[in-house]
Amino acid sequence: MVITRHDEARAVLADPRYVPPPVRQDAPPYTLGWLRARVSRFSSGETHAERRRALEERLAELDPAALRRSAREATLERGGDWTGVPTQVLAAALGVAVPVSLVEAAATGYLSGEETPEADAAVAGLTALVGDGPPAVTDLTLLLQAHAATEALITNALTHDDRAGVEGLLRETLRHDPPLRASRRVEQATGEEVVIDLVAANRDPAVFADPERFDPARGETPHLTFGHGVRPCPASAHALALAAGVLDGLRAAPGRSASLPEEEL
Ligand code: HEM
Repeated sequence: MVITRHDEARAVLADPRYVPPPVRQDAPPYTLGWLRARVSRFSSGETHAERRRALEERLAELDPAALRRSAREATLERGGDWTGVPTQVLAAALGVAVPVSLVEAAATGYLSGEETPEADAAVAGLTALVGDGPPAVTDLTLLLQAHAATEALITNALTHDDRAGVEGLLRETLRHDPPLRASRRVEQATGEEVVIDLVAANRDPAVFADPERFDPARGETPHLTFGHGVRPCPASAHALALAAGVLDGLRAAPGRSASLPEEEL
């Protein structure tokens, strides 16, 4: 079943009977499958609650305002070549020395579950660098969850007229062009599979006026791009800060829209 309505999407996301599609538990050590079996994202019930608590504690050690400043500086230092900046800044804030290329290679199949030799080798490389116990898995989860979604948010934001302020531009990009376009759930008892179409739910005319129009002046909206209910993104403030810092850096970079204002998020 595909869900397109905002109210139905919220109801499924808030219902603990609907869990992420289960992942295999028998993958060889230090492969992508091994990692996916150990993270919060694909677990449910008490295991999910415990792993999520560890993530939230770790995230509470990171200051979004500092992430934003670091992302701005790194983007400026690189002359506006921002690719990899959010992941590099997050890794530095976590105090883990891992190359962005390894995070990227492991992140490729992390959500889809596509197990490739490249993704397996990247997970092996990452665990060799940071360790394989629960604290290391917490940090790797954060990096893998952050990488593609944050880069896609920035890429999508840059397709729009950037005269808008950074905050409005990012929030409306999240609603209108979500970097993650769908979320999947399985009803535990029946095995019924549900796909939540985030693009459609974020443009539900029952909730958003003139939903097809990209309007950075909408302010806060109840978009579902950071999830909702049982397991929303625990790092929405960090994601926004990293993306805003990159946009700040691009706006301040010589020769790149230098006259555009930077703003506080
Ligand atoms: C624009 C960027 C981002 C978007 C759109 C996004 C969106 C999401 C969504 C929708 C979920 C829930 C998935 C579901 O319900 O099935 C999620 C989970 C998660 N996100 Fe994000 N995210 C972003 C950036 C980040 C960043 C920067 C971090 C880390 C610093 C992060 C860490 C996580 C973690 C650890 C989870 C799993 C939570 C759990 O298992 O309960 N995300 N994210």
